[in-house]
Amino acid sequence: MPLMVLPILGQVSVSESLVAIITICVVYLLMRLNRIKIPDGLQKLPGPKPFPIIGNVLELGNNPHLSLTEMTKTYGPVFQIQIGMRPVVVLSGNDVIRQALLKQGEEFAGRPDMHSSKFISDGKSLAFSTDQVGVWRARRKLALSALRTFSTVQGKSGEYACALEEHISNEGLYLIQRLHNVMKSDGSFDPFRHIVVSVANVICGICFGRRHSHDDDELVRLVNMSDEFGKIVGSGNPSDFIPFLRVLPSTTMKKFIDINKRFGKFMQKLVSEHYETFDKNNIRDITDSLINHCEDRKLDENSNLQVSDEKIVGIVNDLFGAGFDTISTALSWSVVYLVAYPEMQVRLQKELNEKIGTDRTPRLSDRTELPLLEAFILEIFRHSSFLPFTIPHCTSRDTSLNGYFIPKDTCVFVNQWQVNHDSELWKDPYSFNPDRFLSADGTELNKADAEMVLVFGLGKRRCIGESIGRAEVFLFLAILLQRLSFSGIPGETLDLTPEYGLTMKHKRCLLRVTPQPGFEPQTTLS
Ligand code: HEM
Repeated sequence: MPLMVLPILGQVSVSESLVAIITICVVYLLMRLNRIKIPDGLQKLPGPKPFPIIGNVLELGNNPHLSLTEMTKTYGPVFQIQIGMRPVVVLSGNDVIRQALLKQGEEFAGRPDMHSSKFISDGKSLAFSTDQVGVWRARRKLALSALRTFSTVQGKSGEYACALEEHISNEGLYLIQRLHNVMKSDGSFDPFRHIVVSVANVICGICFGRRHSHDDDELVRLVNMSDEFGKIVGSGNPSDFIPFLRVLPSTTMKKFIDINKRFGKFMQKLVSEHYETFDKNNIRDITDSLINHCEDRKLDENSNLQVSDEKIVGIVNDLFGAGFDTISTALSWSVVYLVAYPEMQVRLQKELNEKIGTDRTPRLSDRTELPLLEAFILEIFRHSSFLPFTIPHCTSRDTSLNGYFIPKDTCVFVNQWQVNHDSELWKDPYSFNPDRFLSADGTELNKADAEMVLVFGLGKRRCIGESIGRAEVFLFLAILLQRLSFSGIPGETLDLTPEYGLTMKHKRCLLRVTPQPGFEPQTTLS
């Protein structure tokens, strides 16, 4: 006889459920016997009382960023919840998060051992795996240096300041043409569907020295499924915390494993092609530079060979994955906000028209000239907080915070959403108001406020693609806004409610574009 356990789990037999429940009870009792001793002078973490077996899962609900923000009002900025049988420390508030990630950075820099992480890059991801500190540090250094080199290197045409600017400009112009074409054939378009391919092409250019067509089925399907990925690795996914959920059928988990397999296959093909055509004297892109690093290391008798070739070349998976999902989510939100706040779109276009005009395409060096656009982007980051939590952290040794004891290997959630909506930091935090970042005369950005927006994490695990991310969102938006006006479908209301995940997406919707004066489409490209 089938038994429904939770809606997300699907159907399970009574015998399977009984085995699972008995196992959980035994583990639960063992855990109670193994209670942690609090060192003298420190206190036990506050937090809601957990239910047996499921902990506080029900209180987390479908929007953990909102429920955990609400809990700070009762328990303060450092508290503990229990997801399933696993204790999780939740950090909120600017001061506490800075204390943990900057001042006590070493102690909070680990990653927890999560079930879902085992499927990402076969458990060898730089961002998600539980690599030992030395291995993670070496990989992170390599990744940072490769990113820096291949985004700042001279572009192919010499027309642009760097390869990054060249890739973004080309893809921005392709995207505009593409949107005109889709408008002509369908009368509207799904913004995420098209933006994500353009953004993926920028990181593909840097990592693999190539771009894909917007009609490349495999790439389009893969990058358009990133929301399924984010739903599983977002903080608070029950199957990462409640072991028995792993053995039960779950369509979301099945999809997650499938996406990772397909992603791995897609990346492996590109990496294999690089190995076949590798030439030490012509390092074309990040993949070549990682292969070269492995080759050099083999010749160096003094080198430390702890990090396998697979883990080095596999860095490219993290760069590609993180590089398309985050930026396309930011851009897609930006476009939706432009439609929701049309008067802001007009002001941004006026700024572009006055500072850049119509004779040339915007460049990265125009950033200081376009303070309203910069303020708009900061407000998108803050208001949408589309990365509500960082990737979960983990304590690397016994530590304390705000007088509370936190044992080694405790999973830690960093609530970025709470900081970005804290009424102690922001006036009217729930209203969308880019002007909050501008000086009274609107000519300058307020740098102190800009730095308070928390979206790239902080400290040792801070995003390594931050400068690329900021540059890319800026330049894509500047190019799009110079040439297009975005609008909704008359009579249809836009729903700005985010869908929870590692990166929160807006609901899929249909929008329209019209060309800005002087930028009417002339030819139809495929
Ligand atoms: C708007 C764009 C982006 C946002 C908002 C963003 C945000 C983040 C956040 C919140 C984290 C986790 C920090 C933590 O765990 O404390 C992260 C990590 C990471 N990001 Fe980004 N990111 C963006 C773009 C990029 C890009 C373009 C790349 C690479 C090309 C990238 C590569 C990474 C990597 C590799 C990590 C893992 C770092 C580690 O675990 O040591 N990100 N990012």
